[in-house]
Amino acid sequence: MPKKQDKNRIVSTKESAEEVAFEKSLRPKRLSEYIGQNKVKDNLEIFMAAAKKRQEPIEHVLLHGCPGLGKTTLAHVIANEMGTNIKVTSGPAIERAGDLAAILTNLANGDILFIDEIHRLNKVIEEVLYPAMEDYALDIVIGKGPSARTLRLDLPKFTLIGATTRVSLISSPLRDRFGATFRLDFYQDEDIKKIIERNARILETQIEPIACGLIAQRARKTPRVANRLLKRVRDYAQVKADGKITEDLAKEALSLLEIDELGLDEIDRKLLKTIIEKFSGGPVGLNTLAASTGEDMDTIEDIYEPFLMQLGFLNRTSKGRTATKLAYEHLGFKPRLDNQQNPLI
Ligand SMILES: Nc1ncnc2c1ncn2[C@@H]1O[C@H](COP(=O)(O)OP(=O)(O)OP(=O)(O)O)[C@@H](O)[C@H]1O
Ligand SMILES: [Mg+2]
Repeated sequence: MPKKQDKNRIVSTKESAEEVAFEKSLRPKRLSEYIGQNKVKDNLEIFMAAAKKRQEPIEHVLLHGCPGLGKTTLAHVIANEMGTNIKVTSGPAIERAGDLAAILTNLANGDILFIDEIHRLNKVIEEVLYPAMEDYALDIVIGKGPSARTLRLDLPKFTLIGATTRVSLISSPLRDRFGATFRLDFYQDEDIKKIIERNARILETQIEPIACGLIAQRARKTPRVANRLLKRVRDYAQVKADGKITEDLAKEALSLLEIDELGLDEIDRKLLKTIIEKFSGGPVGLNTLAASTGEDMDTIEDIYEPFLMQLGFLNRTSKGRTATKLAYEHLGFKPRLDNQQNPLI
Protein backbone atom coordinates (compact mmCIF):
# COMPACT_ATOMS: atom_id res chain seq x y z
CA MET A 1 0.00 0.00 0.00
CA PRO A 2 1.38 3.43 -0.84
CA LYS A 3 1.69 5.71 2.15
CA LYS A 4 -0.65 8.64 2.53
CA GLN A 5 2.22 10.88 1.64
CA ASP A 6 2.53 9.23 -1.73
CA LYS A 7 -1.13 9.83 -2.55
CA ASN A 8 -0.69 13.51 -1.87
CA ARG A 9 2.35 13.78 -4.06
CA ILE A 10 1.62 15.77 -7.13
CA VAL A 11 3.96 13.60 -9.18
CA SER A 12 2.76 10.31 -7.70
CA THR A 13 2.15 7.80 -10.46
CA LYS A 14 -0.64 6.19 -8.41
CA GLU A 15 -4.21 7.06 -9.15
CA SER A 16 -6.18 8.73 -6.36
CA ALA A 17 -9.91 8.23 -5.79
CA GLU A 18 -10.89 11.76 -6.90
CA GLU A 19 -8.96 11.27 -10.06
CA VAL A 20 -10.92 8.31 -11.37
CA ALA A 21 -13.65 10.35 -13.10
CA PHE A 22 -11.17 12.87 -14.47
CA GLU A 23 -8.94 10.13 -15.89
CA LYS A 24 -11.92 8.38 -17.40
CA SER A 25 -12.85 11.49 -19.36
CA LEU A 26 -9.35 11.67 -20.83
CA ARG A 27 -8.87 7.99 -21.48
CA PRO A 28 -8.32 7.16 -25.17
CA LYS A 29 -10.90 4.70 -26.49
CA ARG A 30 -9.34 3.53 -29.75
CA LEU A 31 -5.86 2.40 -30.68
CA SER A 32 -5.50 5.41 -33.00
CA GLU A 33 -6.00 7.74 -30.01
CA TYR A 34 -3.54 5.82 -27.83
CA ILE A 35 -0.36 7.87 -28.10
CA GLY A 36 3.18 6.39 -28.11
CA GLN A 37 4.10 2.78 -27.25
CA ASN A 38 4.40 2.14 -30.98
CA LYS A 39 5.99 -1.27 -30.69
CA VAL A 40 3.20 -2.51 -28.46
CA LYS A 41 0.55 -1.00 -30.72
CA ASP A 42 2.06 -2.54 -33.88
CA ASN A 43 2.17 -5.98 -32.29
CA LEU A 44 -1.30 -5.65 -30.88
CA GLU A 45 -2.74 -4.62 -34.22
CA ILE A 46 -1.47 -7.80 -35.84
CA PHE A 47 -2.49 -9.89 -32.87
CA MET A 48 -6.05 -8.54 -33.03
CA ALA A 49 -6.32 -8.64 -36.83
CA ALA A 50 -5.25 -12.30 -36.85
CA ALA A 51 -7.87 -13.19 -34.24
CA LYS A 52 -10.56 -11.32 -36.17
CA LYS A 53 -9.62 -13.13 -39.36
CA ARG A 54 -9.92 -16.48 -37.61
CA GLN A 55 -13.15 -15.22 -36.00
CA GLU A 56 -11.83 -16.20 -32.62
CA PRO A 57 -11.37 -14.23 -29.41
CA ILE A 58 -7.82 -12.95 -28.98
CA GLU A 59 -5.43 -14.99 -26.89
CA HIS A 60 -4.85 -14.04 -23.26
CA VAL A 61 -2.74 -10.90 -22.85
CA LEU A 62 -0.48 -9.83 -20.00
CA LEU A 63 0.28 -6.10 -19.73
CA HIS A 64 3.03 -4.90 -17.44
CA GLY A 65 4.72 -1.63 -16.64
CA CYS A 66 4.97 1.07 -14.01
CA PRO A 67 1.84 2.73 -12.59
CA GLY A 68 0.14 5.31 -14.80
CA LEU A 69 1.64 4.20 -18.11
CA GLY A 70 -1.67 3.08 -19.63
CA LYS A 71 -2.34 -0.61 -18.86
CA THR A 72 -5.99 -0.19 -17.86
CA THR A 73 -6.50 2.18 -20.77
CA LEU A 74 -5.03 -0.33 -23.20
CA ALA A 75 -7.24 -3.16 -21.89
CA HIS A 76 -10.32 -1.03 -22.63
CA VAL A 77 -8.92 -0.04 -26.02
CA ILE A 78 -8.52 -3.74 -26.90
CA ALA A 79 -12.14 -4.41 -25.92
CA ASN A 80 -13.33 -1.47 -28.05
CA GLU A 81 -11.26 -2.55 -31.02
CA MET A 82 -12.50 -6.12 -30.78
CA GLY A 83 -16.08 -4.93 -30.19
CA THR A 84 -16.44 -7.05 -27.06
CA ASN A 85 -17.64 -6.60 -23.51
CA ILE A 86 -15.08 -6.12 -20.78
CA LYS A 87 -15.58 -7.17 -17.17
CA VAL A 88 -13.17 -5.59 -14.72
CA THR A 89 -11.87 -7.00 -11.47
CA SER A 90 -8.60 -7.13 -9.58
CA GLY A 91 -6.36 -9.64 -7.84
CA PRO A 92 -7.12 -8.48 -4.28
CA ALA A 93 -10.88 -8.26 -5.01
CA ILE A 94 -11.13 -11.99 -5.71
CA GLU A 95 -10.99 -13.44 -2.23
CA ARG A 96 -12.23 -16.98 -2.73
CA ALA A 97 -12.13 -19.51 -5.56
CA GLY A 98 -15.94 -19.27 -5.63
CA ASP A 99 -15.73 -15.55 -6.47
CA LEU A 100 -13.66 -16.32 -9.52
CA ALA A 101 -15.94 -19.22 -10.51
CA ALA A 102 -18.93 -16.86 -10.35
CA ILE A 103 -17.17 -14.30 -12.55
CA LEU A 104 -16.06 -16.89 -15.10
CA THR A 105 -19.44 -18.59 -15.42
CA ASN A 106 -21.10 -15.23 -16.04
CA LEU A 107 -18.93 -14.43 -19.06
CA ALA A 108 -20.22 -14.78 -22.62
CA ASN A 109 -18.29 -16.01 -25.65
CA GLY A 110 -15.69 -13.45 -26.71
CA ASP A 111 -15.89 -11.41 -23.50
CA ILE A 112 -12.76 -9.93 -22.01
CA LEU A 113 -12.03 -10.42 -18.33
CA PHE A 114 -9.61 -7.79 -17.07
CA ILE A 115 -7.79 -8.66 -13.86
CA ASP A 116 -5.83 -5.70 -12.56
CA GLU A 117 -2.97 -6.27 -10.11
CA ILE A 118 -2.96 -9.90 -11.17
CA HIS A 119 0.24 -10.50 -9.16
CA ARG A 120 -1.90 -10.22 -6.03
CA LEU A 121 -4.12 -13.21 -6.81
CA ASN A 122 -3.76 -15.87 -4.19
CA LYS A 123 -2.32 -19.25 -5.13
CA VAL A 124 -5.52 -21.27 -4.72
CA ILE A 125 -7.41 -18.90 -6.97
CA GLU A 126 -4.61 -18.84 -9.47
CA GLU A 127 -4.97 -22.59 -9.84
CA VAL A 128 -8.62 -22.19 -10.82
CA LEU A 129 -7.41 -19.93 -13.61
CA TYR A 130 -5.06 -22.47 -15.18
CA PRO A 131 -7.71 -24.81 -16.72
CA ALA A 132 -9.95 -21.81 -17.36
CA MET A 133 -7.26 -20.15 -19.47
CA GLU A 134 -6.01 -23.28 -21.13
CA ASP A 135 -9.10 -25.37 -21.78
CA TYR A 136 -11.95 -22.95 -21.02
CA ALA A 137 -12.96 -25.27 -18.20
CA LEU A 138 -13.72 -24.97 -14.53
CA ASP A 139 -12.87 -27.86 -12.24
CA ILE A 140 -15.18 -28.07 -9.26
CA VAL A 141 -14.46 -30.41 -6.39
CA ILE A 142 -17.58 -31.91 -4.85
CA GLY A 143 -17.45 -33.53 -1.45
CA LYS A 144 -14.48 -34.14 0.82
CA GLY A 145 -12.01 -36.90 1.52
CA PRO A 146 -12.05 -40.20 -0.38
CA SER A 147 -15.52 -39.61 -1.83
CA ALA A 148 -14.55 -36.26 -3.35
CA ARG A 149 -15.13 -35.96 -7.08
CA THR A 150 -14.09 -33.40 -9.62
CA LEU A 151 -16.66 -32.05 -11.99
CA ARG A 152 -15.57 -30.21 -15.10
CA LEU A 153 -17.74 -27.34 -16.34
CA ASP A 154 -17.27 -25.80 -19.78
CA LEU A 155 -16.68 -22.08 -19.87
CA PRO A 156 -17.29 -19.65 -22.72
CA LYS A 157 -14.30 -18.78 -24.90
CA PHE A 158 -13.13 -15.64 -23.17
CA THR A 159 -9.94 -13.58 -23.19
CA LEU A 160 -8.11 -12.81 -19.99
CA ILE A 161 -6.19 -9.55 -19.87
CA GLY A 162 -3.97 -9.33 -16.80
CA ALA A 163 -2.22 -6.15 -15.72
CA THR A 164 0.63 -5.83 -13.27
CA THR A 165 3.28 -3.42 -12.10
CA ARG A 166 5.32 -6.35 -10.74
CA VAL A 167 5.77 -8.91 -13.47
CA SER A 168 8.52 -10.67 -11.52
CA LEU A 169 5.94 -11.72 -8.92
CA ILE A 170 3.87 -13.64 -11.45
CA SER A 171 4.42 -17.38 -11.21
CA SER A 172 5.74 -19.04 -14.32
CA PRO A 173 2.73 -21.39 -14.78
CA LEU A 174 0.49 -18.34 -14.93
CA ARG A 175 2.85 -16.36 -17.13
CA ASP A 176 3.13 -19.27 -19.58
CA ARG A 177 -0.62 -19.31 -20.13
CA PHE A 178 -0.68 -15.86 -21.71
CA GLY A 179 -0.51 -15.84 -25.52
CA ALA A 180 1.26 -12.47 -25.48
CA THR A 181 3.01 -10.28 -22.97
CA PHE A 182 3.46 -6.57 -23.60
CA ARG A 183 5.63 -4.24 -21.59
CA LEU A 184 4.74 -0.57 -21.45
CA ASP A 185 7.76 1.71 -21.23
CA PHE A 186 8.18 5.25 -20.01
CA TYR A 187 7.03 7.65 -22.76
CA GLN A 188 9.13 9.81 -25.04
CA ASP A 189 8.84 13.52 -24.20
CA GLU A 190 7.30 14.16 -27.63
CA ASP A 191 4.52 11.68 -26.88
CA ILE A 192 3.84 13.20 -23.49
CA LYS A 193 3.51 16.58 -25.24
CA LYS A 194 0.99 15.09 -27.65
CA ILE A 195 -0.98 13.67 -24.73
CA ILE A 196 -1.05 17.07 -23.02
CA GLU A 197 -2.15 18.80 -26.25
CA ARG A 198 -4.89 16.25 -26.81
CA ASN A 199 -6.15 16.50 -23.26
CA ALA A 200 -6.07 20.30 -23.24
CA ARG A 201 -8.31 20.11 -26.34
CA ILE A 202 -10.70 17.74 -24.57
CA LEU A 203 -10.76 20.06 -21.53
CA GLU A 204 -11.31 23.03 -23.87
CA THR A 205 -8.24 24.75 -22.50
CA GLN A 206 -5.87 26.78 -24.65
CA ILE A 207 -2.21 26.08 -24.03
CA GLU A 208 0.91 27.65 -25.53
CA PRO A 209 3.37 25.12 -27.03
CA ILE A 210 6.15 26.26 -24.66
CA ALA A 211 3.86 25.77 -21.66
CA CYS A 212 3.03 22.32 -22.95
CA GLY A 213 6.76 21.53 -23.13
CA LEU A 214 7.31 22.75 -19.56
CA ILE A 215 4.59 20.48 -18.23
CA ALA A 216 5.81 17.52 -20.32
CA GLN A 217 9.34 17.92 -18.99
CA ARG A 218 8.09 17.46 -15.42
CA ALA A 219 5.66 14.63 -16.09
CA ARG A 220 8.04 11.77 -15.25
CA LYS A 221 7.46 10.33 -18.74
CA THR A 222 4.09 9.15 -17.41
CA PRO A 223 0.67 10.07 -18.87
CA ARG A 224 -1.07 10.02 -15.47
CA VAL A 225 1.37 12.59 -14.08
CA ALA A 226 1.03 14.69 -17.25
CA ASN A 227 -2.75 14.74 -16.83
CA ARG A 228 -2.48 15.69 -13.19
CA LEU A 229 -0.02 18.51 -13.83
CA LEU A 230 -2.18 19.80 -16.68
CA LYS A 231 -5.15 19.87 -14.35
CA ARG A 232 -3.27 21.78 -11.64
CA VAL A 233 -1.81 24.29 -14.09
CA ARG A 234 -5.23 24.76 -15.69
CA ASP A 235 -6.73 25.51 -12.26
CA TYR A 236 -3.97 28.05 -11.66
CA ALA A 237 -4.53 29.72 -15.04
CA GLN A 238 -8.25 29.92 -14.37
CA VAL A 239 -7.82 31.49 -10.96
CA LYS A 240 -4.98 33.88 -11.82
CA ALA A 241 -5.94 34.80 -15.40
CA ASP A 242 -8.47 34.02 -18.10
CA GLY A 243 -7.75 30.29 -18.26
CA LYS A 244 -5.31 30.23 -21.17
CA ILE A 245 -2.12 28.42 -20.14
CA THR A 246 0.73 30.71 -21.13
CA GLU A 247 4.43 30.10 -20.60
CA ASP A 248 4.57 32.45 -17.61
CA LEU A 249 1.50 31.02 -15.93
CA ALA A 250 2.81 27.47 -16.41
CA LYS A 251 6.16 28.45 -14.87
CA GLU A 252 4.50 30.07 -11.87
CA ALA A 253 2.11 27.18 -11.30
CA LEU A 254 4.84 24.58 -11.59
CA SER A 255 7.20 26.38 -9.25
CA LEU A 256 4.39 26.52 -6.69
CA LEU A 257 4.20 22.73 -6.89
CA GLU A 258 7.91 22.39 -6.04
CA ILE A 259 8.71 19.99 -8.82
CA ASP A 260 12.06 20.54 -10.43
CA GLU A 261 12.68 20.71 -14.15
CA LEU A 262 13.18 16.94 -14.38
CA GLY A 263 10.00 16.12 -12.50
CA LEU A 264 11.69 15.30 -9.17
CA ASP A 265 9.84 16.29 -6.06
CA GLU A 266 10.88 16.57 -2.43
CA ILE A 267 10.72 12.84 -1.78
CA ASP A 268 12.86 11.89 -4.78
CA ARG A 269 15.43 14.44 -3.67
CA LYS A 270 15.29 13.17 -0.11
CA LEU A 271 15.96 9.60 -1.27
CA LEU A 272 18.95 10.61 -3.36
CA LYS A 273 20.31 12.97 -0.71
CA THR A 274 20.06 10.24 1.91
CA ILE A 275 22.09 7.86 -0.25
CA ILE A 276 24.66 10.57 -0.95
CA GLU A 277 24.95 12.19 2.47
CA LYS A 278 24.34 9.34 4.89
CA PHE A 279 25.76 6.45 2.88
CA SER A 280 28.46 8.17 0.82
CA GLY A 281 26.61 7.42 -2.39
CA GLY A 282 25.84 3.77 -1.50
CA PRO A 283 25.50 0.91 -1.89
CA VAL A 284 22.77 0.92 0.70
CA GLY A 285 20.19 -1.83 1.17
CA LEU A 286 16.53 -1.12 0.49
CA ASN A 287 15.53 -1.78 4.13
CA THR A 288 18.09 0.65 5.44
CA LEU A 289 17.10 3.26 2.88
CA ALA A 290 13.44 2.88 3.80
CA ALA A 291 14.22 3.15 7.51
CA SER A 292 16.40 6.22 7.11
CA THR A 293 13.94 8.09 4.91
CA GLY A 294 10.74 6.99 6.66
CA GLU A 295 9.31 5.79 3.34
CA ASP A 296 7.71 2.46 2.66
CA MET A 297 9.90 -0.21 0.98
CA ASP A 298 7.32 -1.20 -1.65
CA THR A 299 6.61 2.42 -2.49
CA ILE A 300 10.30 3.14 -2.94
CA GLU A 301 10.71 0.11 -5.14
CA ASP A 302 7.55 0.47 -7.24
CA ILE A 303 7.16 4.18 -7.55
CA TYR A 304 10.26 6.26 -6.92
CA GLU A 305 13.05 4.00 -8.09
CA PRO A 306 11.89 3.11 -11.62
CA PHE A 307 11.85 6.76 -12.62
CA LEU A 308 15.14 7.60 -10.86
CA MET A 309 16.70 4.64 -12.66
CA GLN A 310 15.22 5.78 -15.96
CA LEU A 311 16.87 9.17 -15.42
CA GLY A 312 20.15 7.42 -14.68
CA PHE A 313 20.24 8.80 -11.11
CA LEU A 314 20.08 5.53 -9.24
CA ASN A 315 21.38 2.02 -9.72
CA ARG A 316 20.15 -1.18 -8.17
CA THR A 317 23.12 -3.42 -7.52
CA SER A 318 23.37 -6.75 -5.73
CA LYS A 319 24.82 -4.89 -2.72
CA GLY A 320 22.14 -2.20 -2.66
CA ARG A 321 21.21 1.15 -4.14
CA THR A 322 23.80 3.62 -5.37
CA ALA A 323 23.48 7.24 -6.46
CA THR A 324 25.16 8.00 -9.80
CA LYS A 325 27.37 10.85 -10.91
CA LEU A 326 24.34 12.41 -12.65
CA ALA A 327 22.43 12.45 -9.35
CA TYR A 328 25.38 14.15 -7.60
CA GLU A 329 25.49 16.79 -10.33
CA HIS A 330 21.75 17.35 -10.40
CA LEU A 331 21.58 17.91 -6.66
CA GLY A 332 24.69 20.08 -6.66
CA PHE A 333 27.03 17.70 -4.80
CA LYS A 334 30.70 17.33 -5.66
CA PRO A 335 31.48 13.88 -7.15
CA ARG A 336 32.78 11.20 -4.82
CA LEU A 337 36.58 10.80 -5.00
CA ASP A 338 38.87 7.95 -4.03
CA ASN A 339 42.26 8.43 -2.29
CA GLN A 340 43.91 9.38 -5.55
CA GLN A 341 41.19 11.98 -6.14
CA ASN A 342 39.69 10.04 -9.02
CA PRO A 343 35.94 10.18 -9.37
CA LEU A 344 34.50 6.95 -8.00
CA ILE A 345 31.20 7.24 -9.76
N1 LIG B 1 -1.01 6.03 -24.55
C1 LIG B 1 -1.78 6.96 -23.96
N2 LIG B 1 -2.23 8.00 -24.66
C2 LIG B 1 -2.96 8.96 -24.05
N3 LIG B 1 -3.31 8.95 -22.74
C3 LIG B 1 -2.88 7.92 -22.01
C4 LIG B 1 -2.10 6.86 -22.56
N4 LIG B 1 -1.83 5.98 -21.61
C5 LIG B 1 -2.40 6.44 -20.49
N5 LIG B 1 -3.03 7.61 -20.72
C6 LIG B 1 -3.71 8.43 -19.71
O1 LIG B 1 -3.12 8.16 -18.45
C7 LIG B 1 -4.11 7.79 -17.51
C8 LIG B 1 -3.57 6.65 -16.67
O2 LIG B 1 -3.49 5.47 -17.42
P1 LIG B 1 -3.95 4.04 -16.85
O3 LIG B 1 -4.97 4.21 -15.77
O4 LIG B 1 -4.34 3.20 -18.02
O5 LIG B 1 -2.58 3.53 -16.23
P2 LIG B 1 -2.24 2.11 -15.58
O6 LIG B 1 -1.00 1.62 -16.26
O7 LIG B 1 -3.43 1.23 -15.62
O8 LIG B 1 -1.86 2.49 -14.07
P3 LIG B 1 -1.95 1.59 -12.72
O9 LIG B 1 -0.75 0.70 -12.73
O10 LIG B 1 -1.90 2.57 -11.60
O11 LIG B 1 -3.25 0.84 -12.77
C9 LIG B 1 -5.35 7.45 -18.32
O12 LIG B 1 -6.53 7.90 -17.73
C10 LIG B 1 -5.17 8.15 -19.64
O13 LIG B 1 -5.86 9.37 -19.64
MG1 LIG C 1 -4.62 0.50 -14.06
